[in-house]
Amino acid sequence: MEKKTIYVIIPAAGKGLRMGGPVPKLLLEVAGVPVIARTLMAFDRSETADYKMVIVTSSELRPTIKDLVEKYSISSVIGYAEGGATRTDSVSSGVRFLEEKGVSGDDTVFVHDGARCLVDEDILGASAKSMSSYDVSVASIPVKNTLKITEVNSKGDLVVKSTPDRDTIREVQTPQCFKFEVLRKCYGYAAEKGIFATDDTALAEMLGIPVCITEGSYSNIKITTAEDIPVAEEFIRRREG
Ligand code: C5P
Repeated sequence: MEKKTIYVIIPAAGKGLRMGGPVPKLLLEVAGVPVIARTLMAFDRSETADYKMVIVTSSELRPTIKDLVEKYSISSVIGYAEGGATRTDSVSSGVRFLEEKGVSGDDTVFVHDGARCLVDEDILGASAKSMSSYDVSVASIPVKNTLKITEVNSKGDLVVKSTPDRDTIREVQTPQCFKFEVLRKCYGYAAEKGIFATDDTALAEMLGIPVCITEGSYSNIKITTAEDIPVAEEFIRRREG
């Protein structure tokens, strides 16, 4: 059976300043392979769909990422878009790129963080499947810790406001998946209202569009700080047995 085409926007324009070092976090190596190369290969080698990726990055990072695409024989990159000051700007740029390429209507688009290099076949398969019954979905995991809603009191101190029921809370990851027209509407709304969202599906919620929860994984971490590298390497070691 012919595989379904799924477009993927890879936001990869973050400066990675939280990492503290001179090398942008997406270029740091995890078990000998740069983070961004691992992320792109997860889609390129996947059996779950025929992925077509647009990489949203800065003009400084673009040549290095292009070299990696060549070095690792990644064949499913359809182009590059210019990143913006925030993740929302970068994803918007990816949406515009796809629109110019003729992506439209019910075409499926995943947004996946360039820094989330351990995404696996189970996650991609569950995400793709959700798109047959929903316009929007998000990979997520149950939270392990109890969370608190906080507020600043009259003395200016941070205090607990309430404790939400842990069983109803999920931590979201990427892929965040959309029918193209819905994604376009979400980012049009963000531009109109000047909203900067750290999470794409939050925009769908604001517009009252149902968002399906799919299974992510505790290993689907985002490489954000130096401590994440050995953790990612341990997950890879276990995966590769
Ligand atoms: O900063 P954060 O951890 O939320 O970044 C998530 C992803 O979004 C990363 O892959 C990062 O490169 C990307 N990003 C981007 N443009 C920005 C900020 C972050 O493409 N301006």
